[in-house]
Amino acid sequence: MTGKIIAGVLAPHPPHLVYASNPPQNEPRSEGGWDMLRWGYERMRKSVLAKKPDVLIVHSPHWMTVVGHHVLGLPKFQGLSVDPIFPHLFRFQYDINIDVDLSLAIAEEGRAEGLITKVMKNPDFRLDYGAITSCYLTNPAFDIPIVCLSSNNSPYYFSNEVGQHQMEKLGRATARAIAKSGKRAVLLASNSLSHRHFTNEPEIPEDMSHEHIYHHGQYLWDMEMLKMMREGRSRELIDVLPEFMDMALAEVKAGALTWMLSALDFPSYPAEVHAYGSVIGTGNAVVEWAHEANSGGAR
Ligand SMILES: [Fe+2]
Repeated sequence: MTGKIIAGVLAPHPPHLVYASNPPQNEPRSEGGWDMLRWGYERMRKSVLAKKPDVLIVHSPHWMTVVGHHVLGLPKFQGLSVDPIFPHLFRFQYDINIDVDLSLAIAEEGRAEGLITKVMKNPDFRLDYGAITSCYLTNPAFDIPIVCLSSNNSPYYFSNEVGQHQMEKLGRATARAIAKSGKRAVLLASNSLSHRHFTNEPEIPEDMSHEHIYHHGQYLWDMEMLKMMREGRSRELIDVLPEFMDMALAEVKAGALTWMLSALDFPSYPAEVHAYGSVIGTGNAVVEWAHEANSGGAR
């Protein structure tokens, strides 16, 4: 049986959304907040979990690797993950199963693309809050194994263009590994959009009277990106991304969105925006590409 990418998701990871949800694994308690984004995540979750994925594959900007692209290579990781910027919002006890076979297959296919890949086998390795947040908000039960991909630092060391080129290769490698695995996979691009943010936190972090987009220009950029996604113009989107990264300090610079769109072979069908909202002024959208329904799962 040929494996399939059943959906791709832009799945941003503000730790505030976990904090606001008060899961038992997270130590700090909240009074809620950022409801529109959390409801959007709920809609997306209902849609992708109904498609019965075997595996969630997440690419996170907060597992940054200087040499090559890394995957997790042990069947289980557990521990406490703390957001270094928001330790008062995110102190999360995780216990996560990894699809090691698929992780190794992606690393192998990456090498075939000419990428340097490495396998993380340190049992004490601490999973980053970005990967955990996107996975928790997609599947709070954590009953589906994940594959976790690091973000190689090339966009920061070299240029946006070099970085995106690497991510396109990683996307092709991911798609080939999934096809050979026979599994049904959901891809999570763990990125926000515009990323200018406030520098002072309100006394109550979830006080929504303080929450709004940072700057009108940032909003306009975000809307232009979402318009292209909703109109199936992903090739054009990729061309514009390097400028978006510079103008909006966009977190897509770390490569997750490019990786995912490449794995989906740059879809020309419309994506569905489940939600858009700001978190400390940054632009965040939950967007789903229903790949299986629009392409039969072929690339
Ligand atoms: Fe982030």
